[in-house]
Amino acid sequence: MPAFPLKGESRESILASVADARTRDLTADGRAFAFIYDAGKETRELAKEVYAACMPINGLDPTAYPSARTLETGLVRTCLELMRAPEGAVGTATAGGTESVMLAVKAARDFARKTRPEVTRPKMLLPITAHACFHKAAHYLDVEVVSVDVDETYRAKVDDARAKMSKDVILVVGSAPSYAHGVVDPIAELAALAKEHGTLMHVDACVGGLVLPFLREAGLPTPDFDFTVDGVTSLSMDLHKYGFAPKGSSMLLLRDRALRDAQYFACASWTGYTIVNSTTLGSKSLAAAGAALAVIRHLGREGYVALARRMWDATSRLVALVEARPDLRLLARPDMNLFAFTTTEGDLFELSDRLTERGWHVQPTYGFGPSPAHIHLTIDPTNAARVDDFAKDLADCLEGLPRPSAPPPEVVGMLGMLGAEGGGAGLDASMLMASLGITDGVLPARASMIHRILDAAPPEVRERLFVLFIGELFT
Ligand SMILES: Cc1ncc(COP(=O)(O)O)c(C=O)c1O
Repeated sequence: MPAFPLKGESRESILASVADARTRDLTADGRAFAFIYDAGKETRELAKEVYAACMPINGLDPTAYPSARTLETGLVRTCLELMRAPEGAVGTATAGGTESVMLAVKAARDFARKTRPEVTRPKMLLPITAHACFHKAAHYLDVEVVSVDVDETYRAKVDDARAKMSKDVILVVGSAPSYAHGVVDPIAELAALAKEHGTLMHVDACVGGLVLPFLREAGLPTPDFDFTVDGVTSLSMDLHKYGFAPKGSSMLLLRDRALRDAQYFACASWTGYTIVNSTTLGSKSLAAAGAALAVIRHLGREGYVALARRMWDATSRLVALVEARPDLRLLARPDMNLFAFTTTEGDLFELSDRLTERGWHVQPTYGFGPSPAHIHLTIDPTNAARVDDFAKDLADCLEGLPRPSAPPPEVVGMLGMLGAEGGGAGLDASMLMASLGITDGVLPARASMIHRILDAAPPEVRERLFVLFIGELFT
């Protein structure tokens, strides 16, 4: 059958095939502790309608599509207010947290190019707990990452950042909170350090931006992380996470316009129309941003506060449960509703397999630096409603949990080749996948052995294997 159809197909048949393709996807049924951020059917339906209504808008040219300006400035104003930004602060709607972060790094790099001639090799002070997208930004934009250590609570060590500060540092980064452990870095101290050295400070509030302010409103002690903190110059916050908007919506906020000018890209050096792009995209959909603003208007502050409180209550119950068990260990007390725990003796990845068999989706995560292999849980309103079921299954799954067993030596040997010079060039990717039990891009039902092998492997081997794996999926 040719892939490109000769004749058109009926609407019904197309919709049926899409539904069919989606049968194994995660859904907002309260069983997923990663990926899903869902505020319920009513909000979801509204977002869908507004998304469809905004689908034709092209933000590439806000003079041709004035609605792009109305929607984006409306969303920016709302987010600036929530982040207590001063007069003169500005923002840009982006397609996701990664794009917000990449643009923040670009703005910092290009701002330094214009204003700081002493910078010869741009560097970014980055806690090891910061999201991987900062490494991606560094890679794309040729900015060097200077890793900052964390303390026993997984918060950035300010002393280490201070020791590593140099004239080349264009940006200091802090998370509010970090994804893995759910803890907020010492933002005020990091921002003071940045300011003292005449450099910029970005707060990554991709997960926390639409939760922490509402937890504060609900009366919980919440660390300051926004523009009220002196020295914070930019901030990212995702609407497609705890804003409960459809995927494709995030926000980059900047303390002033001069910094945002460095984020923009303009080009008149070709034969076509002159462009000025605020983001990495050219043609830019406003559908998700429109839906995000609609969800905010629909839920209102009160709605977000109620949801934040519900998610925090569920998190507190789970955290207490983990802390009470001698066979589990909480890695850090979280500042909001996502956290990490590990086993003290039993096989963590076997635990994750057992939870999967019972229909839960948790995120097994490999060790890195001082952070051991762990299970990550992100709490949203849907799984918050099911924590008692989850707690019961967790207790059952911990019954008789074996200690980890050694991985098969032949697979370990093959993986070793990935770490060698050339990244295992010439290695048969399909054969390697088969030896791991991965057939046709589908992980085996029990993945603990794969996880154990990867947990023991260095980061470069993990990266190489994931490239091969995803490459196999899309071949
Ligand atoms: C703290 C943090 N920053 C950035 C990102 C990247 O966001 P996205 O996946 O929307 O690109 C994430 C995603 O989980 C995150 O948790």
